[in-house]
Amino acid sequence: MLFGKKKKSSETDGLEMIDLENDSSSDKEKKVLIEFQNVSRKYSQGEHEFYALKDANLTINEGEMVVILGPSGAGKSTLLNLLGGMDSASEGHIWFDGEDLTTFSDNKLTKYRAENVGVVFQFYNLIPTLTAYENVALMRDIKNGTSDPADALAMVGLADHMHQFPSQMSGGEQQRTSIARAVAKNPRLLLCDEPTGALDTDTGKEVLKLLQDMSREKKRTVVMVTHNSFFADIADTVIRVKNGGIQSIVHNDNPKDATEVSW
Ligand SMILES: Nc1ncnc2c1ncn2[C@@H]1O[C@H](COP(=O)(O)OP(=O)(O)OP(=O)(O)O)[C@@H](O)[C@H]1O
Ligand SMILES: [Mg+2]
Repeated sequence: MLFGKKKKSSETDGLEMIDLENDSSSDKEKKVLIEFQNVSRKYSQGEHEFYALKDANLTINEGEMVVILGPSGAGKSTLLNLLGGMDSASEGHIWFDGEDLTTFSDNKLTKYRAENVGVVFQFYNLIPTLTAYENVALMRDIKNGTSDPADALAMVGLADHMHQFPSQMSGGEQQRTSIARAVAKNPRLLLCDEPTGALDTDTGKEVLKLLQDMSREKKRTVVMVTHNSFFADIADTVIRVKNGGIQSIVHNDNPKDATEVSW
């Protein structure tokens, strides 16, 4: 049961999502949603160039749950920002559903982010002058077909806190508001940067379950960055990043249910 919500998500009017065309497809018929081809992101440091990400190649299927692991500074957030069109590659190509993001104009990239991407930021990025409810409700201005903010907040256990401002919430409550905001948007691509970093184990598990349900039941593609290697067990694909490079990509045929994982 998810934060005391008894209805199956397929029956909810809260987080009910538009089924994608391949919702009923079997694992064998997976469709590639994202492809990185030799993607690099470099920064200038005086006269030197520094690669936050170098020559990354990867493929992510629609509806997959992907976990990105790696030490601090490895390039995980950089990778996530590139996936979400929040940053631009210095080199290489990033394909989303057959279109190359690296060729998009600013307007087209804005549209891509608005229509396809939901983000749980590492540092929440809530608007301080808006309540939890208002922060989630903002998604309505960005995309059609978003969930009711009250239902999304109830899904993360914040039904009784929705009229509080971020400054009146604990870190974990702010993090859950940020998760509700991203999930309410019903995005094709849900990017989560350390989404359980501020949560206790039980609440963290509930969030993992919510994210896994997004992938398994709603066929949303979920990409989660974490330091917690136990989370690898629940992923369809585990990408390990180190020193700006992709160290390994491992596919897991039998991922654990989020409720089974412990740390
Ligand atoms: N805008 C920037 N300008 C210069 N260097 C940057 C910039 N953004 C990131 N970096 C550098 O790129 C490297 C990778 O950063 P990134 O934020 O992707 O790491 P991370 O794996 O997410 O780390 P953490 O686990 O601490 O969040 C770091 O060394 C960081 O300092
Ligand atoms: Mg980071």
